[in-house]
Amino acid sequence: MRTLRELRGMVEEGLAKLAYPEKPWGLYEPIVYTLQSGGKRIRPVLVLATYDWLTGGAQPLDPILPAALAVEVYHNFTLLHDDIMDHSDLRRGKPTVVAKWGVNGAILSGDAMMILAYQILCGMKSEQFPGILDRFGWLAMSVCQGQQLDMEYEGRNDITLPTYLEMVEGKTAALLQGAVRIGAYAAKANPEVEAGLDQFAHDFGIAFQLQDDLLDVYGNTETFGKRVGDDIAVGKNTYLSVLAFEHAAPPQREVLEHLRDKAAYLDTEAKVEQTVAIYDAAGVEPLAEKGIEQYLNAAGAHLATVEKRIGAPAQALRELLASQIGRTF
Ligand code: IPE
Ligand code: IPE
Ligand code: MG
Ligand code: MG
Ligand code: MG
Repeated sequence: MRTLRELRGMVEEGLAKLAYPEKPWGLYEPIVYTLQSGGKRIRPVLVLATYDWLTGGAQPLDPILPAALAVEVYHNFTLLHDDIMDHSDLRRGKPTVVAKWGVNGAILSGDAMMILAYQILCGMKSEQFPGILDRFGWLAMSVCQGQQLDMEYEGRNDITLPTYLEMVEGKTAALLQGAVRIGAYAAKANPEVEAGLDQFAHDFGIAFQLQDDLLDVYGNTETFGKRVGDDIAVGKNTYLSVLAFEHAAPPQREVLEHLRDKAAYLDTEAKVEQTVAIYDAAGVEPLAEKGIEQYLNAAGAHLATVEKRIGAPAQALRELLASQIGRTF
């Protein structure tokens, strides 16, 4: 069975080997910049780790590698467009593509990355290709659906936890679910195993986004690599804003609404500072940490059920899950 480190190495190597046309370089330069800027590679590792585990840990991973790379390229594509939508200028500690090349550059290189993802996927030599393509299409469309909700929820003060979670299922969890489902299906796992892993990745994915929301408020820009306070600055609905609206005293809730009001005359720094003060008073940070822990535990329990059925521990998946506890970037 490969370790997490080995699997990550395979992803890095595969990404580094991708070839691009020479012209027009302006289209491909932002792609290379993005793919070589050091993401955590969680999604492709999920594909590889699932396949490796379910095929016994000693089979070659070449047949599944294109699917893993396609998932990572697709994920990176979503980041290019997401940073336009979220007005973000920092990612992985570097200027975002939109900050460096402008909106049009980020749109077009993003488009090219989505196409590239499908081209890489088409490199698979598997009799199960149609089923894999189907799963890939599902995850890709789910992200768009989630991103649409994310956009529609911006600035709204009536978003409840279930509504928020529906958005997160689309924009974040689906990619992780699709990743493990592709790995399981390609390994010819039975449908119950695939469904169990789907539940594992769903809860993992929710925990992942909740932690991202937490870090956007209580993280450190340098370690996180993204500008802390960005979500508050643009009036995003996040796990923390939903918790704050649920737990803040009514007068504080009114202040939160006022702070969200686009017409409110406040500079971004003051807006973030005053919002965080209300989050602090409402005790949102420990509440968020508890919620994250619950989802991580639930993910672990789903994985345990599948491990029992398979009769072997999913070491790399376990390691990946454990690395989420107290994640700072
Ligand atoms: C960022 O995902 C988008 C979210 C779902 C929060 P990651 O935090 O996995 O981004 P990289 O690829 O590691 O930079
Ligand atoms: C994550 O949303 C979902 C996608 C990028 C598709 P965020 O907007 O929270 O992700 P970051 O924080 O910019 O990475
Ligand atoms: Mg976003
Ligand atoms: Mg964003
Ligand atoms: Mg975020």
